[in-house]
Amino acid sequence: MSGILVIGANGMLGRDLVGVLQSHFQNDGVLGWDIEEMDIREEDTIEKIEKVRPKIVINVAGYTDVDGCELNEEKAFAINAEGMKHVVLGAERCKAKAVYLSTDYIFDGKKKEPYLEDDPPNPLNVYGRSKWKGELYIQELARDGLIIRTQWLYGKYGKNFVTSVLRQAKEKGVLSIVNDQIGSPTYTMDLSKAISILIRYDARGIFHVVNSDFCSWYTFGQTILKLSGMVGVKVIPISSKEFGRPALRPSYSVLNTQKLKRETGMVLRPWPEALKHYLSTVRDSIESI
Ligand SMILES: NC(=O)c1ccc[n+]([C@@H]2O[C@H](COP(=O)([O-])OP(=O)(O)OC[C@H]3O[C@@H](n4cnc5c(N)ncnc54)[C@H](OP(=O)(O)O)[C@@H]3O)[C@@H](O)[C@H]2O)c1
Repeated sequence: MSGILVIGANGMLGRDLVGVLQSHFQNDGVLGWDIEEMDIREEDTIEKIEKVRPKIVINVAGYTDVDGCELNEEKAFAINAEGMKHVVLGAERCKAKAVYLSTDYIFDGKKKEPYLEDDPPNPLNVYGRSKWKGELYIQELARDGLIIRTQWLYGKYGKNFVTSVLRQAKEKGVLSIVNDQIGSPTYTMDLSKAISILIRYDARGIFHVVNSDFCSWYTFGQTILKLSGMVGVKVIPISSKEFGRPALRPSYSVLNTQKLKRETGMVLRPWPEALKHYLSTVRDSIESI
């Protein structure tokens, strides 16, 4: 028997999360699984979870390539929605708490002020629709499930916007970044600590968890370059339409985190501060980009 089972443990968030949980829940036993141990698309996920008999199951696995989802709807729903259904059913079999990581992309971005947990979803793309369906499964099937919505993640493990900006800046010296989408860049280490605290609080329902303050991708990109000392790089602001990605994205998907503050006292640090910290911890690997 293991206390906490993390599914998607080899992903960008999963790797930080397992490390944080192992230090916060030393006596409970934290088990990290990924697709090699369990493909959540398969129904045997239910029995595999039941055999482990965890107290908490956190699903951070997913098909997270937003444009890929647009071109492969079946795969998106199989992993992000039906996969979550299997995870919740497995958790229910052993009376474990189910936790699901969801996204700002369930919103359409038309609100123009920070989204609350109970604002109505209206996803613009397949990824958002598949994640919303995953949310519905946990709401319908879990007794005390927890949904954590977050956005614009970057971390030490895995490709992300920060490494992609630095790579392009080094290779080309010039880059175009969209300036008409607003959100909150969020550091996976900060998010992992917040998830751990929400678990300690036995939180249930929906929580928005992101680093404080918000910006456009363009400003995020400029800040990455500035904090990395890459001052000579030219950054061209462009519209989402000009950028021409297969999946539509909300123009404004800032998440209101007042509920997190109200119920746990937690406020994640402002995104530029978190970014600065991240860049200092990954300096060596970034130099080899
Ligand atoms: N990244 C963001 O900006 C962002 C924003 C909002 C919400 N989220 C959510 O946060 C969670 C973590 O995101 P992330 O960026 O850390 O994702 P990630 O790096 O793509 O990691 C996802 C992990 O899930 C695994 N996986 C994929 N299909 C699976 C399956 N069928 N069964 C079991 N494991 C499978 C992946 O393995 P492979 O690599 O082998 O496919 C990978 O190790 C996801 O639920 C995502 O939807 C992410």
